[in-house]
Order: sequence, then structure tokens, then C-alpha cells
Amino acid sequence: MTYLSRLLVACCLVLGLSVVAPIADAQINPTQQSVSEDALFEALGTGGTVAGRTTIPDPAAGALIKPENRSWAVLQGSTLYTLSIVAVVGMIVLLTLFYVIRGKIRIDSGFAGRTIQRFNWVERFAHWTLASTFIILALTGLNLIIGRGVIMPIIGENAFGTLSAWGKIAHNYLAWPFMAALVMIFLLWVIHNVPNKLDLEWIKQGGGLLKKGVHPPARKFNAGQKVIFWAVVLGGAGLSYTGVMLLFPAWAGTPADWQFYQTIHALIAAALSAIVIAHIYIGSVGMEGAFDAMGSGEVDENWAKEHHALWVEEVKTSQARNSAQVQTPAE
Ligand code: HEM
Repeated sequence: MTYLSRLLVACCLVLGLSVVAPIADAQINPTQQSVSEDALFEALGTGGTVAGRTTIPDPAAGALIKPENRSWAVLQGSTLYTLSIVAVVGMIVLLTLFYVIRGKIRIDSGFAGRTIQRFNWVERFAHWTLASTFIILALTGLNLIIGRGVIMPIIGENAFGTLSAWGKIAHNYLAWPFMAALVMIFLLWVIHNVPNKLDLEWIKQGGGLLKKGVHPPARKFNAGQKVIFWAVVLGGAGLSYTGVMLLFPAWAGTPADWQFYQTIHALIAAALSAIVIAHIYIGSVGMEGAFDAMGSGEVDENWAKEHHALWVEEVKTSQARNSAQVQTPAE
């Protein structure tokens, strides 16, 4: 035994390291090579195995390096990284083009000056809880996928470390109010989001978004909004389920199952982020008068007539019925 190997054995004994001997057919000796990561990775790169024997009762601890974990890491750094950037940046580019070509969608008949209530405070509370938590969850989640490549080079390792640590805490805790708000908007709005024949007409006319003066009739929610609603509800449910599995790995199953949930979680998040960016655009700068619906809860009557004509009729009819009942006292 050379002086170096004696020293290595002594270190292992002192540190209580569990890897004590290589498996006979291993192409590399992990006991001797455990301090040289490069040599171990090289062995894996050629399709070799790196396995040892362990004295720890958990057999999983015997796997020094798992090749499938490396492919998962590669998936993170290449496929998910690229898809996330393409989804988010692609949607922003598309919306910018739409804005340049179509411009802001104005109220064709101008503001009426009279308003009509569109969403009450419970609906607005649910919406803004969902919106604010989703935006933070999306940004902190995106940071986990692309932050290392995009943000770290700009702000440096230390700031990125602090940002990511806080981001992880925010992500883990804000998931709960997000899920609560998701249940709320589902219960409040599902009744208005059942697809019907009117939606086909709305889609045929491009929602009136492409041409000035075109206003396909719609009830409280048009076909475009129904798409947003179901994308948020189903995507949000998928994110919630996979997210809970990620938070509680014991429920997820094996480490490979956990990695599967993580991949699905990231894919849904990228797709939903792109859809939500389009929603934010149309609910703010993209359409005149739209924001008020979630701001004050009151929208201009002409905006309502142009975008939700049948809903305005329903509201007016029920208002007329109510005031008739008030004026006719019970006998
Ligand atoms: C700053 C960001 C946001 C703004 C300005 C905004 C604006 C709006 C507005 C104005 C409406 C009502 C549209 C109408 O009168 O019919 C609305 C509805 C809605 N919002 Fe948002 N929103 C934002 C973020 C979000 C986020 C992040 C989500 C989900 C994750 C979300 C989900 C919904 C859903 C499901 C509806 C009902 C369906 C629809 O109208 O499309 N919103 N939002």
C-alpha cells in the first residue's frame, strides 16, 4: 500500500465514509476515484457504470452517480430552458406585432359615460389573488429554469443566490393562496364558461379583434375568455397537483417519478405563462375600457354593448324586473 492510499483509507475511516469496495466488474473504482469527479463523469460518458458497496441500510445510497439524473439535468438545461424562453419571448413578440398592426382595440362608439357593474368585490378579490400569486410563482419558477443562464451573468453569483433562495421560499408558500383563488374563480365563473353555439360564431368572426367595427354577440364571457378560463383552471389544477408532489417527494414515489412531475410542472408553467401574457395584454393596454372590469368592477356601457351585448340585455332585463317588483307593493 502506497503512502497515498493509506492516507485515503485513513480519511475514509475518520470521516465514516460508507463506500468501502468496488463491485468486481465496475470499470472504475469509485473508492479510489471518489475524490476525482472528472474521472467518474468520464467513465459515465463512455457508458460505463460507477457502483459501489455501501454499509448504509438505504440501498439507494449506494448509487454514487445515477446516469438518469444526468439526463434529467440535461433536460432542464436544454429542452425546458429553450421551451420556456421561446414560449414567453415568442408570445411577447407576437403581441408586439399585433399591437403594431392592429393597434389598441378602441370602443368604436366612444364612451357612453354610464357604467354597468361587471364584477363584484368577491370576484375581483379572487381574480387579483390569483393574478398576483401566479405572476410571482411564474417569475420565481422561471428563475429556476433560466435564471442561472440569463440572470446570474447579469447580477452575479451572490445576488443570484440570495434572489433564488427568497424566490424558492415565495414559490413554496404562495402556491397555497394561488390554489385557494383557483378554486374560488372556478366556483364563481364555471357557470358562465360552459361552451355553447354562440362561441362558434364568435370564433368565426375572429372575436371582432382583427377588424374594426365587428362585434360578435357574447354573454358574460366570450369564446376567447372561455379559452383563458379553462386554460387557467385546467393548467392551474395540473400545476397544483404536480406542485404538491414536488413539495412532498414521499407522495411522488421514486426519484424518477419526482423528476417526471417536475418536467410536467415546468411544461405546463411555460405554456400557461404564454397564455396569461396574452390575457394580461388584452385586459390592460390592448383594449380600451377592459381594465375597469377588474379595477373598479364597473365598465362603460358602450364597451359592454360592443363586447358582451347579450350579457347587457340580461342585466337590463333583470334590473327592469327588480325595479318593477319594488314599484308594485305586495297586496
Ligand atoms: C396584471 C395582470 C392582469 C390584468 C390586468 C388582468 C385583467 C383582467 C380583466 C380586465 C378581466 C375581465 C375581463 C372582462 O371584463 O371580461 C380579467 C379576467 C380574468 N383573468 Fe385576469 N388579469 C391579469 C392577470 C391574470 C392572471 C395572472 C390570471 C391567471 C393566472 C388571470 C385570470 C383571469 C381569468 C380566468 C379571467 C376570466 C376570464 C377572462 O376574462 O379572460 N388574470 N382579467
